[in-house]
Amino acid sequence: MSIPLRKEDEIIKLREACKLASDVLVMIEPYVKAGITTGELDRICHEYMVNVQKTIPAPLNYHGFPKATCISLNEVVCHGIPSDDKKLKDGDIVNIDITVIKDGYFGDNSKMYIVGETNIRSQKLVEAAQEALYVGIRTVKPGIRLNEIGRAIQKYTEAQGFSVVREYCGHGIGTEFHCDPQVLHYYADDGGVILKEGMVFTIEPMINAGKKEVRLMGDGWTVKTKDRSHSAQYEHQIVVTATGCEVMTIREEEEKAGRISRIMLNV
Ligand code: MF3
Ligand code: CO
Ligand code: CO
Repeated sequence: MSIPLRKEDEIIKLREACKLASDVLVMIEPYVKAGITTGELDRICHEYMVNVQKTIPAPLNYHGFPKATCISLNEVVCHGIPSDDKKLKDGDIVNIDITVIKDGYFGDNSKMYIVGETNIRSQKLVEAAQEALYVGIRTVKPGIRLNEIGRAIQKYTEAQGFSVVREYCGHGIGTEFHCDPQVLHYYADDGGVILKEGMVFTIEPMINAGKKEVRLMGDGWTVKTKDRSHSAQYEHQIVVTATGCEVMTIREEEEKAGRISRIMLNV
């Protein structure tokens, strides 16, 4: 497995792409209200990326994906296709996943939004998905095995009474959308990979309120929980540093909340 080690010149480019990707998640927040369709949310993001940011939406035409963003509602685990037929309603939980390309470099991130108010269990699920990501981020430093990330995420998630999806994982990213390493969100064989300064990858655990099993829908993209329980996901893109990692897609709201910081000192 060959995992590129990025130097400062490329990290600067990735930081810029990641900042733009995170800006889209902030920009769209006030629009995520009951009554809007996921198709309209996609159009607003698409316009913003192309016309304001001058970025390329990476999902569009990626292996035939038809839209600029992935929007996944309730029991949809990931890769939801935005549609004018899907209207948000009070109590929905929704993931918006944004990947932009700027100057040849990719920035990938996602977060959950709650439409109006939802029930306590869904609130808890959304909260746990964010903390699962943070637990993973807090493990990252050079010299550790790659599978320590998934080990920590699985332990946390199952202790909360939720399950970790196995079929989809975090991934290396840089001048390609998806490359090595595969970052599993549960404990399994990692092929002996040791983290090194300059590795860039995402962590993006999908966690289910019910069982871990998923089903691919007939459109070839939409992934749902098999038991139709709700699912939640947050994603950040990080680079391994000498003393931990840098969260390249961190949002201001997260820096203020103080549960993670851009520069994570994990040693
Ligand atoms: N952004 C997703 C990820 O986190 C990938 C979406 S691929 C698409 O890896 F084709 F569905 F857009
Ligand atoms: Co990703
Ligand atoms: Co993504």
